Amino acid sequence: MAPIKACIFDLDGVIVDTAKYHYLAWRRLANELGFDFSENDNERLKGVSRMDSLNILLEIGGVELDEVRKQELAKKKNEWYVELIADMDKTEILPGTTQFLTELQKTGIKIALGSASKNAKTILRRIGLIEMFDTIVDGTDISKAKPDPEVFLLGAKALNVDPNECVVFEDAVSGVEAALSAGMRVVGVGSKETLFKANDVVNSLAEMTLNRLEK
Ligand code: BG6
Ligand code: MG
Repeated sequence: MAPIKACIFDLDGVIVDTAKYHYLAWRRLANELGFDFSENDNERLKGVSRMDSLNILLEIGGVELDEVRKQELAKKKNEWYVELIADMDKTEILPGTTQFLTELQKTGIKIALGSASKNAKTILRRIGLIEMFDTIVDGTDISKAKPDPEVFLLGAKALNVDPNECVVFEDAVSGVEAALSAGMRVVGVGSKETLFKANDVVNSLAEMTLNRLEK
């Protein structure tokens, strides 16, 4: 097994629990369009880009719209989401994150972000973690959404490491698949039932140590 030279982290659901804010904003949109949107339905949106999420939402509601209207609605959802994350601060960092990032930094393992979100940098700044990342690849850099490996391959390239020297941390099924097709190892953050394709699964980064990672 190649030595680990970099760890690439998804943002939403791994570093911060922003999935709840995405959910509230999508539900508000669904309600405006006249249908309900459950937390269970929301699982399908995790890791998925903004426009793809909208398409899934509309499919659930049985609503068909033209491209112009879809762009308007995606913009509206994002405005509500941005309002919801306006007051975020470091208290919303998920357990174990800061400790684990610090451990990686001390050992000289590079740290990257690999997120589908166009709000990623704003969030990292707000929670005070942006300085810990050696490179950030987000929704503004990619043309192909997870499960395409593009986001993670760009991260490895920016850090000048090979994919097999990287470990990805992901809470979404699409993200686990993206990491595996990039040729990287992947730790699922969440439930074993959902993330069974991952090489290892933890409930949160509080369970992760460099020692466990290297096993
Ligand atoms: C992902 C989230 O990280 O980013 C998705 O899991 C979200 O739920 C996607 O749709 C895009 O985010 P944004 O902030 O660009 O709308
Ligand atoms: Mg995620």
